[in-house]
Amino acid sequence: MLVSGAGSNLSALLRADLGIGQVVLVASDRDSAGGLERAQQAGIPTRVVPPADFPDRAAWDTGLAEALAPAEPDLLVLAGFQRLLGPELPKRYPTLNVHPSLLPAFPGQRAVEQALAWGVRVTGCTVHFVDEGVDTGPVIAQEAVAVEPDDTPQSLHARIQAVEHRLLPACVALACADRLVVEGRRVTVRS
Ligand code: GRF
Repeated sequence: MLVSGAGSNLSALLRADLGIGQVVLVASDRDSAGGLERAQQAGIPTRVVPPADFPDRAAWDTGLAEALAPAEPDLLVLAGFQRLLGPELPKRYPTLNVHPSLLPAFPGQRAVEQALAWGVRVTGCTVHFVDEGVDTGPVIAQEAVAVEPDDTPQSLHARIQAVEHRLLPACVALACADRLVVEGRRVTVRS
């Protein structure tokens, strides 16, 4: 799993009974990510791969791939990972991301603030496969969250995260069971 922030999705994944699969490594681009501490408390190995330790983007991509490889993951899960991955990792591993909007609306950073600024009445969260773009990969699952008139970015994000904490583990379980079939932009669930 790749995290840059607090790691509440990591905790949700650890709490969920996936039935199949386990988190084998948590890696981050920054040593301050709260998710690293949560992983350590759960006895999961961690790695930090800061871009500043590498001469350029491509070298960092390779460094990250080398840090992940010994754990032999079958799947990469991004939750709040603040870096765009190069093409190498999503080609090597099926890679999922959770994003706090109904994509393709409000991709990229500060999706919750973008939704509030636009004045939408409904936003939500998306779990999708990662490709080379910014939040552009095929959608696995989405769930809507209503925007309340008095919402702040914090209050809205908290309700979206409550949904993420259900949706991401459900999608990870399907991916671990090899039940997700991607055909072009469409993802279907094999029974
Ligand atoms: C989540 O809301 C995710 O959608 C966004 O960043 C947040 C990460 O939260 N990309 P956490 O680190 O899992 O608590």
